[in-house]
Amino acid sequence: MRSDRVCEEPNGNDADRLFRSNDAVSLKPDYKIAPILQIKNVHKSFQGIKALDGAALELYDREILALLGDNGAGKSTLIKIISGAYQPDEAEIYVFGKAIARMTPHDSRRLGIKTVYQDLAIFPVLDVSQNLFMGSEMSYFGFLQKRKMDKASRKVLDGLRTTVKSLRQKIETLSGGQQHSVSIGRTVFVGATPRILIMDEPTAGLGVEESREVLEILKELRRNVAIILISHNLDHVFAVADRAVVLRQGKVNGVVNISETSIEEIVSLMVCR
Ligand SMILES: Nc1ncnc2c1ncn2[C@@H]1O[C@H](COP(=O)(O)OP(=O)(O)OP(=O)(O)O)[C@@H](O)[C@H]1O
Ligand SMILES: [Mg+2]
Repeated sequence: MRSDRVCEEPNGNDADRLFRSNDAVSLKPDYKIAPILQIKNVHKSFQGIKALDGAALELYDREILALLGDNGAGKSTLIKIISGAYQPDEAEIYVFGKAIARMTPHDSRRLGIKTVYQDLAIFPVLDVSQNLFMGSEMSYFGFLQKRKMDKASRKVLDGLRTTVKSLRQKIETLSGGQQHSVSIGRTVFVGATPRILIMDEPTAGLGVEESREVLEILKELRRNVAIILISHNLDHVFAVADRAVVLRQGKVNGVVNISETSIEEIVSLMVCR
């Protein structure tokens, strides 16, 4: 992918548009409101190898922020720090303007941060309703309220404009897109409503039509939630994202408004110093 043309220096105007520092990652001048999530100066090493080297991002309410970068750039590590799964060696984290000294998975859930991981964390041999309510089952004096959960499951699927033949269908018999809907449904609609939704490769492995459905869901969710979207598919990023933070070797190599950039520019930020 790397070529001299791709890695040419941007001209003066381009350089003004691009932001290339780990310290201050605001780009869009008309974003006057404060970010709901700000994380900066993030350092994380694994056995002496630096995965993150001063990375940063700001997320604003009701935007889709793409988190981009080549394999190993540090994207998953950064979102795992945001969700409290990993502890950074060093980082400053602010959520809704409040400094968070140490983010744990419990804190991040309490703050409304939820993640749909790439492997979806679904249970293939369990049915749709069981998957939606896994870990959040409705019960009354120890008895599962199946009918109530089915009714709620229908509502969740309707909200995601997803139809399944039966709620008793095992997840493994659903299409990839339907499986994604169930996973998104469980994360977004079961339990507390997220304020910040992190999606790691939500369209990976999906066909054209299924990807389109998932992207439509993201656009719909953006009305109420801020979304961090990790994707290697730049067409999908251009279809839904508002801004992008591009990481390279654990550092921010650029922050761009999607409406003002091109796939070529993003690729160059992914691979060029
Ligand atoms: N648990 C871990 N133990 C050791 N090294 C790790 C661990 N997690 C990540 N790394 C290393 O940190 C670097 C960043 O990895 P990370 O998974 O964050 O990249 P990524 O941008 O998500 O890549 P991809 O696009 O391939 O998913 C890589 O060099 C990776 O090998
Ligand atoms: Mg990753």
